[in-house]
Amino acid sequence: MQALIAAPEGPHGFRFAEVPEPVPGPGQVLVEVRHASINHGEVRHIGFQPVGGVLGYDAAGYVVQAAGDGTGPGVGERVVAFGAGAWARRAAFDAGSVAVVPPSLDLAEAAALPLVGITALRTLRAAGSVLGRRVLITGASGGVGRMAVQLARLGGAHVIASVGSPERGDGLRELGANEIVVGLDDINAPVDVVLDSVGGGHLVTAWSLLRPGGSLQSIGWASDEPATFPLNSIFALGAAKTLQSFGDASHPGPDLAVLTDLAARGTIIAQIGWRGPWTDLPDAMTALLSRRVMGKAVLNID
Ligand SMILES: NC(=O)c1ccc[n+]([C@@H]2O[C@H](COP(=O)([O-])OP(=O)(O)OC[C@H]3O[C@@H](n4cnc5c(N)ncnc54)[C@H](OP(=O)(O)O)[C@@H]3O)[C@@H](O)[C@H]2O)c1
Repeated sequence: MQALIAAPEGPHGFRFAEVPEPVPGPGQVLVEVRHASINHGEVRHIGFQPVGGVLGYDAAGYVVQAAGDGTGPGVGERVVAFGAGAWARRAAFDAGSVAVVPPSLDLAEAAALPLVGITALRTLRAAGSVLGRRVLITGASGGVGRMAVQLARLGGAHVIASVGSPERGDGLRELGANEIVVGLDDINAPVDVVLDSVGGGHLVTAWSLLRPGGSLQSIGWASDEPATFPLNSIFALGAAKTLQSFGDASHPGPDLAVLTDLAARGTIIAQIGWRGPWTDLPDAMTALLSRRVMGKAVLNID
């Protein structure tokens, strides 16, 4: 079957190839992939993927073989999935890494949900209740950021969305941002929670904006810039401020079900800012890394 595999010799670090059909294990379902989405880390660090391995993690499609152990959805069910090998015509996923897509949710929108949705959901939970709290989201125009804005607002937060330019703030108010700021210089009051996808100087400034007892969730480092904390800036009187890493997308099935349910009811929107055939992956990669995609890039596996 056709798949996109890691190929460091190619101009973009990948190529199309004929690969063996995936053989699902007893607790895995085989999915005919119709849409897959691309994530920032997958394309920025494509050179670190195992050579010849099938790329991608986010997929949506139809179950064509149920799990041998009887777990998970049955043949013909529409599902969203998170797991290695998603950029292929067919992929095997653990039954616990898929969720059934409700009829009212488009499969392409479902494919836009997995990693960014799980990341936003879990980091917000890790930060504790955001009800009535000031939540700063950096990189709010990106895939994780747009999901985080919506989920934080849903949780009752006052949402401050930080973007790189005024145009990149378009649509964020409709998603639930109370304030949209370019950079972090115009934030004049402390925040209770930070979800930081940018790193570098943003991380340093966001830490200084965090009130005692606050939680900074470090999600990513899209800026590729180093962070230098001024002398004594980590020291703080009063309740401890915490900086927490995130990287655990394991056992995603239940959270995928939460996200698809919210999206199916229109409570959150899986925003697709680029959509095209999987043969156009180079265009999608370029658009994403040059900060031109308003939300997610979704590939049609035609
Ligand atoms: N820990 C994990 O498991 C995990 C999970 C998902 C994502 N991530 C990481 O989180 C980051 C964001 O992911 P994503 O999917 O949201 O990516 P994305 O859709 O490409 O968005 C990236 C965002 O970063 C901002 N940005 C990029 N360079 C910047 C710079 N120099 N200064 C300020 N802002 C900058 C962009 O803001 P503007 O366009 O407004 O300028 C954009 O909103 C990536 O580093 C990704 O690898 C980590």
